[in-house]
Amino acid sequence: MPRLPGRVRDPLLFSKCYATSLGGTGHPTTSRRLLLFSTTTPSKLPPFSPRGTFKTPPPSGNNNKTASTKPFIATVLFSLAAASVGAVVYFRPGIGRDNIRAKMSNKLVPANPDDVMVIRDVTPNVVTFSVPFLRFGKIPIGGRGTLVRLSNNSLAVFSPVALTPSARARVSSLGSGQVSYIVATDIEHHIFVSEWARAFPDAKIIGPEGLPEKRAKVTNDDRIGHEPFSVVFTKENKRNLKIDEAFDADFEYEYVDAHPNKELVFYYKPDKVLIEADLMFNLPAIEQYSKVPEAEKPHGSLLGRVFQAMNSTEGEAKGIKRFLWYAMSRGDRAGFNESVRRIDGWDFETIVPCHGETIVGNGKEVFKKVFEWHLEGHN
Ligand SMILES: [Fe+2]
Repeated sequence: MPRLPGRVRDPLLFSKCYATSLGGTGHPTTSRRLLLFSTTTPSKLPPFSPRGTFKTPPPSGNNNKTASTKPFIATVLFSLAAASVGAVVYFRPGIGRDNIRAKMSNKLVPANPDDVMVIRDVTPNVVTFSVPFLRFGKIPIGGRGTLVRLSNNSLAVFSPVALTPSARARVSSLGSGQVSYIVATDIEHHIFVSEWARAFPDAKIIGPEGLPEKRAKVTNDDRIGHEPFSVVFTKENKRNLKIDEAFDADFEYEYVDAHPNKELVFYYKPDKVLIEADLMFNLPAIEQYSKVPEAEKPHGSLLGRVFQAMNSTEGEAKGIKRFLWYAMSRGDRAGFNESVRRIDGWDFETIVPCHGETIVGNGKEVFKKVFEWHLEGHN
């Protein structure tokens, strides 16, 4: 039986608060708009149904009477902090909205990207470019682009980051040295598409629906051009869309349209590597800050610590499981689950996320843990 986060009377209210790893385990009910926690152990709870309700009513008389004041207050405080982070993440400008701020790319680019970029050969055919990145200027989540050599020696870049001289040299030394595919892996990871497209004008640009329109509205940022997209994934075409013979020979892909950021997830079959952007973080971002001088590294703010707790895969990974369940997948749980199950069907061993540490060797194991509730088929 999966362990769903709990003691929450209303998952909708809970999702707005993105609460937390402090509430113990248990199961949500859908009865009232009231946030409650208790100390009842999961073993005393009835089975959880796919519709998010108890198959039988929870044991009477134990909902609050056993809860002490201290954990309740701690939970409320933590929930408020989590809600602050979550609200900013979920409702930030640019996510499915038309609010494109002027010169937004300036805030996303390190002043000295070549000095702080870590270039790593994850496998013989997969190279990552990792850089520091502060979300909202406060939360160190890092950024990562991925370069892949296809079987025909052409190259594909995913979630491109700055094309620094060092990155350019690494591209030139891999395969044909020519990038044939530039992939914006969601509606956020597109800032450097134009920089790579100018260097490789024959490359196909690939992205999710909504991104071409979003970029077209940006008229005051030289970094963001208006290059046409060759392939655009939509909810309607996702099951039939093909990129081309060479790409499709090496990759499986899934458009997670149920995710708020419209995620594109790719599986590079020859090296068993999963490439994704925001579907799953793996904080803290150690590699991405490894070349930043100690004195310049961000120190943990409350906001940063809360966000990290919600995006760590360590241990039982309760925070990230709840974040994905109650926040990221709440809009279309069935569609999200279907995408997760398809991805789980791929035989990957390594996960390359855009934020946080790359997971080498035990990627499938971590994936199954983080998405346990989705794979169990609950809605
Ligand atoms: Fe991201």
